[in-house]
Amino acid sequence: MLFPLSLISLGILGARVATAGPGGGDAGAKACPEVHVFGARETTTPPGFGTSQTLIDLLIKRFPSTTAEAIVYPAAGGDEYSKSVGTGILAVVRQTAAFAVRCPSSIIIMHGYSQGAQIMDDAFCGGPDLPQLNSSVPLVSGAVARGVAAIIMMGNPRNVEGLPYHIGNSTAGGFAARPKGFRCRQFEDRIQSYCDSPDPFCSNGNDPVTHQGYGKEYGQDALEFILSKLVAN
Ligand SMILES: *[C@@H]1O[C@H](CO)[C@@H](O)[C@H](O)[C@H]1NC(C)=O
Ligand SMILES: *[C@@H]1O[C@H](CO)[C@@H](O)[C@H](O)[C@H]1NC(C)=O
Repeated sequence: MLFPLSLISLGILGARVATAGPGGGDAGAKACPEVHVFGARETTTPPGFGTSQTLIDLLIKRFPSTTAEAIVYPAAGGDEYSKSVGTGILAVVRQTAAFAVRCPSSIIIMHGYSQGAQIMDDAFCGGPDLPQLNSSVPLVSGAVARGVAAIIMMGNPRNVEGLPYHIGNSTAGGFAARPKGFRCRQFEDRIQSYCDSPDPFCSNGNDPVTHQGYGKEYGQDALEFILSKLVAN
């Protein structure tokens, strides 16, 4: 599936970038961007984008009119982890649905880092993290499902060996791995999930530095994957 983008945004025609200035009126009055990226941060980082910022910056550099929105959720760890994931899943579903209602023609990009990847995995592939959720049915709205061009996950605890969209040398699953043989059929051609074997959270390694390094290591690869989903209209 390819998503049309204007020649201006693709950099083929000279840019006349409409800037939605910071603090430029209320949300309802903001023009819709061609590309909107949602970022969800990793556990215990302060509100904002956390390490998902690296790829978001690359995307904004490529398409300066891109707008970015952080998923608002606790990103808590320890005893609060699973509650935080539940809150996060619902935040992904709610924030993306609200955006798609406001801007049905915008292209949506999702990027989740670590716990932020887990909540996106659940929202798009079905979520066993809340009792009321069906673990194999996507939770996002139909408009979001139509509008999302790419879903980039890095250091996802739901990683399991054998996923068709896996990139990296991990051969084991994370601490919240999907069952072996799991498929995310509706979105798997739009997902890219990065995990290397030294990672203790998406794999079974013991090097947390690897876990924090995917933006640097794979950001460009992820950007190219996103570009591969876009076509000039
Ligand atoms: C989840 O949805 C699928 C497909 O609609 C259905 O077959 C399955 O029974 C559901 N599982 C649960 C636990 O509700
Ligand atoms: C996997 O990739 C990581 C990061 O690039 C590297 O440090 C590690 O040595 C690799 N491990 C194997 C088993 O290839």
